Amino acid sequence: MVAVLTLSFIKPHNPTVTESTLAGQDFRTPVLRRSFRKPYPVAVRGEGVYVWDADGNRYLDFSGSAAVNFIGHGVREVSDAMVEQARQLEFVHTSQFTTPVAEEFAQELLDFAGEHFRGGAVYFTCGGSESVETALKLARQYQVEIGQSERHQILSRNQSYHGSTLGALSVSGNRKRREIYLPMVREFAHIGIPYCYRCAFDCTDDCHNCGQQYAAELDSAIKASNGAAAGFIFEPMSGATLGAVTPPPGYLQGIAEICRRHGVLLIADEVMTGMGRTGRNFAVEHWEVAADILVAAKGLSSGYAPLGAVIASKKVVDAIANGSGAFLHGFTYNAHPVSVAAGRAVLRRVQSLNLVHAADSNTEGTAGFALKNALESLRDLDSVGDVRGLGMLWAVEFVSNKKTKAPFPPEKNFAGLVGQACLRRGLLVYPMQGCVDGTTGDHLLIAPPAVIADEQIGWAVQQLRAAVEESA
Ligand SMILES: Cc1ncc(COP(=O)(O)O)c(C=O)c1O
Repeated sequence: MVAVLTLSFIKPHNPTVTESTLAGQDFRTPVLRRSFRKPYPVAVRGEGVYVWDADGNRYLDFSGSAAVNFIGHGVREVSDAMVEQARQLEFVHTSQFTTPVAEEFAQELLDFAGEHFRGGAVYFTCGGSESVETALKLARQYQVEIGQSERHQILSRNQSYHGSTLGALSVSGNRKRREIYLPMVREFAHIGIPYCYRCAFDCTDDCHNCGQQYAAELDSAIKASNGAAAGFIFEPMSGATLGAVTPPPGYLQGIAEICRRHGVLLIADEVMTGMGRTGRNFAVEHWEVAADILVAAKGLSSGYAPLGAVIASKKVVDAIANGSGAFLHGFTYNAHPVSVAAGRAVLRRVQSLNLVHAADSNTEGTAGFALKNALESLRDLDSVGDVRGLGMLWAVEFVSNKKTKAPFPPEKNFAGLVGQACLRRGLLVYPMQGCVDGTTGDHLLIAPPAVIADEQIGWAVQQLRAAVEESA
């Protein structure tokens, strides 16, 4: 059945509407949506941590959409900056012009990225996947420029996510999102990924010593590539696929040292973790690791405009500037003035409200600290196996048996059920499946804007608790 657009609106707060009552229906509209099997509420307005739909229902955005929104919805100074830029100059092509807004924001981003990026340069894109593609090509061209043209492989990790374009998929490890496209992608080595709740080394010391064992896999993979490894891409903290998993002590430092020793570029994919989300400007700072290339998106514009950035260190930029003199890459909309103006206004907001500090979950009195404590309180629920994360990026992993850590059968879609129950209560979360092995395992990603108040966190966690109990 083809649903008429207006009939496809549901009242998500209506507890009688569940996924099972909707099963088999076809919610087709002129928009090719993510799913034909469920109706989507129609969003019409946002303000602070709230989004409203066309029926007047209010939702607390406890996942920042998909870990995108960091400054809150509806910030006038951002839309004003976009309007002003569009009025002044809406677009020029980067083969013909640069713009003041791009030059100024690039310098501000280099400063935000820290000392290691002094003298570097920024390539602006329209989002995370485009930025990852750009970073992969930049790493390859860097190697060619320094005379290492045999280096063309980008190594990565299992259970990672770097985007949905074919190049980004080739380095991702998210099984579900890759499976049917695999015949179309060129793959290089994927190494294991530390996941302390289900550590491959069966650690009994909270993973204090397995970091070097995981890092050693990279050393072996680089050696096995026979001099063909150009770069290694990783998420400093796993994003959606494993759900806010932090690395064990010494692991990232080990990875960085191995890359340096082998002349392999270290590419930190901070699409989800960057721009303050974890309580540091970039998450690598928690582990004092200096990447050669940083990839940012999501929080960079907080969702106000499509924007991504590849922040390259001086070493990488010098190789091209002193070599062929041209980066062989380009998108029509790279460094789009209106998007860049949005990003610049967002960064100004992040700095004026001190939101990186607000996101720091290790400092008492911050939103991050309140979020961490509130989520930790869910551990007493029978179906909550793990609560993990940092800053304003957290995950709650569900299990059917707490002792054995046995996951729910995937067909139960437990995370999806909890997500639907949250939605009916006016709470937005980000449900995911596959953390255990790519297919089984259920978790929710929680990543609210850093402007969230303690009472809002309290209310949200109450709803989440009720939603979990209802689904179990
Ligand atoms: C770590 C990481 N890299 C890349 C991407 C892809 O970004 P986009 O969806 O903006 O293309 C994502 C998206 O979730 C991500 O989390």
